[in-house]
Amino acid sequence: MEDIILGIESSCDDTSAAVIRDGYLLSNVLASQDVHKAYGGVIPELASRAHQLNIVPVVSQAIDRAGISPSDITAIAFTRGPGLLGSLLVGTSFAKGLAVALDRPLIEVNHLQGHILANFIKQYDSENRQPAFPYLCLLVSGGNSQIVRVDSPLEFEILGQTIDDAVGEAFDKCSKMMGLGYPGGPVVDRLAKQGDPDRFHFAKPHVPGLDYSFSGVKTSLLYFVRDQMAADPDFMDKNKEDICAGFQRTLIEILMDKLVKAAKQTGIREVTMGGGVSANSGLRNALTAEGKKRGWNVYLPEFKFTTDNAAMIAIAGYFHYLRGERTPLSVAPASRAAEL
Ligand code: KG4
Repeated sequence: MEDIILGIESSCDDTSAAVIRDGYLLSNVLASQDVHKAYGGVIPELASRAHQLNIVPVVSQAIDRAGISPSDITAIAFTRGPGLLGSLLVGTSFAKGLAVALDRPLIEVNHLQGHILANFIKQYDSENRQPAFPYLCLLVSGGNSQIVRVDSPLEFEILGQTIDDAVGEAFDKCSKMMGLGYPGGPVVDRLAKQGDPDRFHFAKPHVPGLDYSFSGVKTSLLYFVRDQMAADPDFMDKNKEDICAGFQRTLIEILMDKLVKAAKQTGIREVTMGGGVSANSGLRNALTAEGKKRGWNVYLPEFKFTTDNAAMIAIAGYFHYLRGERTPLSVAPASRAAEL
């Protein structure tokens, strides 16, 4: 018997649905929400309304592209949290309704676990390299910056995490402040490639253990730009590539320093990354280089699996399904990780 899992993701501003069969990806459909661009950040109420518009066509397309019919689905996995409550409510309610209509089990998934397991999405015509357990995952997104030790598909421990802003938030807020657009990560990444990373230096935090902090570097950049602009209103325009390169280099160094520390402390040499910021070209190069230098086996997720997507929810749901876990229809979404 084949296990066909439909995954549904709606935790933030992307509506996504995916189908996997015995761990192999059949379809992964994503509808991004352009409505937030005008505001320079995600507006929760607009996000949930856009999810309501998108969810039916996105799920239908995922089923069509997979070449299956709804009755072929074995179980429905959905993101229960963490995320924006209104957004989560749309995906959770839809998943429940479909589970009742098709008389199939419902499986809740922790969004972060999806990112952590993104390397296990198997694809036809692909090498499907997968990390061995235990491995370390640098989970970096708009809402999280964590170093996670993963002992099995469903057992993980957070070794360190940000005590203030997430690294994606630092990219986004600084980009917005510098007038470069939203989301900030891809813009800064693109400009940084054209700049000199050694021209400008920004403050680095001194946080004990494996925890991170990004609000200091953010403030350091914002004050620097403000002071320079007071003296020369064109400063930003003339120097944005070098500013972005220096800022990005600082964020990468902060991330890598703690990851190296975690690898030394645990003795683990299998290392992966996940979350939207793992699309960053500088960070990907830095992790690859560090891996070569230290003899780590590094696994980078494909770009399409770095940002929010339902394929990672489907694969995480598949592991829960195999372990016999089922979620009751009375389930409610949970916006905070601690509630899951
Ligand atoms: O995982 P994700 O899609 O969802 C949330 O956590 O909301 O991550 C989104 C984050 C945003 O902060 C975005 O700026 C960042 O990922 N991001 C990047 C890049 N692409 C997306 N950050 C740095 N470099 C990139 N190329």
